[in-house]
Amino acid sequence: MKKLVILISGRGSNMQALLEAKLSCRIAAVISNRADAEGLAIAKAHGIPALVVEHRKHADRESFDTALAQAIDVFDPDFVALAGFMRILGAGFVARYRGRLINIHPSLLPAYSGLDTHARALRDGVKIHGCTVHFVTHDLDHGPIIIQAAVPVLRDDTEQTLAARVLSQEHRIYPQAISWLCQDQVKLSEQGRVLFLHRKQPGFALVSPSLE
Ligand code: GRF
Repeated sequence: MKKLVILISGRGSNMQALLEAKLSCRIAAVISNRADAEGLAIAKAHGIPALVVEHRKHADRESFDTALAQAIDVFDPDFVALAGFMRILGAGFVARYRGRLINIHPSLLPAYSGLDTHARALRDGVKIHGCTVHFVTHDLDHGPIIIQAAVPVLRDDTEQTLAARVLSQEHRIYPQAISWLCQDQVKLSEQGRVLFLHRKQPGFALVSPSLE
């Protein structure tokens, strides 16, 4: 069975969604760069080894990345999933896990890469927003896209209500993406494209506001 290591920095709700999904892989460990990440307790409650590799204890990015890779490689994972992991990883780290490192981002990439995605979407008045699971490359938040979910932006939305609507979709698409990976249904090609090895392509549109 394939093995997954999850990296977190905080709340860990995406990690929890992965722990509670019926994935066809084993979650070998959860690693946080912060000792106070709430997600650590959730992982332990699920009986998953929960480790801390504190970025603050390392002089620079390279030594943190090296320590993190060492901690990950103990578990010999097939895939490494970033789930609210708030550190930028260096080029060496990203190259080491090419095709095996996945991230979830709270916007419809390539729109709104970076931080404060919901506030920026509200400010721009977009009517459709969402979330993206993608392979991690050196180009921050711009790696090849595996799956996206779109949600409507409603007239009375605040940053909180919009974030909650997007988050509930994150909890659906991240387990789906990891399942595909673990079942060899999706992979990153040599050319850096996402290859789908299954054929399902449902076609429907989300229109927001909805048509009369
Ligand atoms: C999520 O919105 C995720 O997309 C982003 O950071 C947030 C983490 O939330 N990268 P959680 O820790 O998974 O609850």
